[in-house]
Amino acid sequence: MIGIFDSGVGGLSVMKELIAAFPDYQMIYFGDTARVPYGNKSKETVTRYALEDASFLIKKGAKLIIVACSTASAFALDTLKKKLKVPVIGVIEPSIKAAIETTRNQKIGVIGTRGTVRSNIYVGLAKKIDPKVQVFQQACPLLVPLAEENWVNKPETRRIIKYYLRPLKARGIDTLILGCTHYPLLAKTIQDIAGKSIKLILPGQESAKAVQKLLKKNSKLEKSLTKTRKHHFYASDISGEFRNIGNRFLGRRIGKLIQADVSKR
Ligand code: DGL
Repeated sequence: MIGIFDSGVGGLSVMKELIAAFPDYQMIYFGDTARVPYGNKSKETVTRYALEDASFLIKKGAKLIIVACSTASAFALDTLKKKLKVPVIGVIEPSIKAAIETTRNQKIGVIGTRGTVRSNIYVGLAKKIDPKVQVFQQACPLLVPLAEENWVNKPETRRIIKYYLRPLKARGIDTLILGCTHYPLLAKTIQDIAGKSIKLILPGQESAKAVQKLLKKNSKLEKSLTKTRKHHFYASDISGEFRNIGNRFLGRRIGKLIQADVSKR
């Protein structure tokens, strides 16, 4: 199976893109709803959580791990790659590469959680790939709850997005990375406020392309993946709105949802 995890529902926006790209592969999703949010926690804590989440998925049969959380990708990807015995793909490297290919004026904006912005991961990667590129970041802590509440185009949401994008637009960016897996839900409004001249980069789409490349190269891994359209869904807490919000993020109905305490394993 392809294993996908996030702090909660956001990663389902990535799973949606993975299902679109690989409709026949079985996937297993884990949302760490008991410990969400990751976006305002320390690197050490997020790394520990990410290791527990990924290890749980591997025990359940995942042969490939997609870190469908920008904060966990920012803080924990290197550790996961070192410690896990299966390939790991995050949402950050594919997005920054796509942004560098897209930009015409070498000015890229990134919006994300406070943790992702604090990690400076996009800035560091861009410097390595193309030192001419400038990356401007903006933390947008209010956007996660707005996406979960489905306040996608309310006047209040538009005002908040305008406020967050103002400094990035003032820098003259022509490309904007949605550096949080919740934000694709707000993509239409963000695009509207950013204006047509700014191209949006969506994390799920770019990570799906990275998975495609990996499976092309690694036929043994490709063959080890189960081909069925029946997916598994786990969350560390299922008392909340996970199912309703999750259906929206996934763009279809979540199947049976099972509670799992991954910290015990
Ligand atoms: N899905 C998380 C991310 O992409 C945002 C939610 C959180 O803070 O845990 O960073």
